[in-house]
Amino acid sequence: MATVLSVSGSPSPTSRTARLLRHLDRRLTAQGHDVIPLDVRTIPAEALLGADFRHPAVVEATALFDRADGVVIGTPVYKAAYSGLLKSLLDLLPQYALVGKTVLPLATGGTTAHVLAIDYALRPVLSSMGAGHIVQGWFTLDKDIAAADDDTLTVAPGAAEALAQVVDQFSQALGSRAAHLAAAG
Ligand SMILES: Cc1cc2nc3c(=O)[nH]c(=O)nc-3n(C[C@H](O)[C@H](O)[C@H](O)COP(=O)(O)O)c2cc1C
Repeated sequence: MATVLSVSGSPSPTSRTARLLRHLDRRLTAQGHDVIPLDVRTIPAEALLGADFRHPAVVEATALFDRADGVVIGTPVYKAAYSGLLKSLLDLLPQYALVGKTVLPLATGGTTAHVLAIDYALRPVLSSMGAGHIVQGWFTLDKDIAAADDDTLTVAPGAAEALAQVVDQFSQALGSRAAHLAAAG
């Protein structure tokens, strides 16, 4: 149905955010979407920190954003905002890289004191990049995400239901947009 880029902005090698996104990717795939995972931490640091727009990994990431109909942006909350790693990639993308795309913002964090970080920190950045439709996002407490040794993920019941709901709303928004574009010819 749609091509979805699923971006994790955590620098952690054992990231809960990344695991959560890969878990939700499966739900989107089951709904017929073509999901492409992108972990920003796999892009070489010298490219991100040296603002090397022409580095192959940055060029490739830019092309993935360009191709996507929808983008899931997942970040851990660091110091009451999104991660610096996520911002280092967003800063290398074209100013209007999110024009025409449906965006689902997700965050994980250690305290509900920062549950609004998506709205006061991340959402304005996504809007400034031209995102036309930013659907309802969700903040998940880190303690509600448990990864087993075999890499299976368990999300606490309340959080799991809320996440399923925002993912399904995102999926529906992608479907509506595809129908709208088809009707417009
Ligand atoms: C450097 C650092 C800063 C953090 N700052 C906050 C914060 O301000 N608010 C919050 O709720 N959690 C904060 N946390 C907790 C993380 O957001 C939380 O554990 C998150 O789920 C980690 O995601 P990850 O495993 O994908 O990196 C911080 C963690 C780190 C390592």
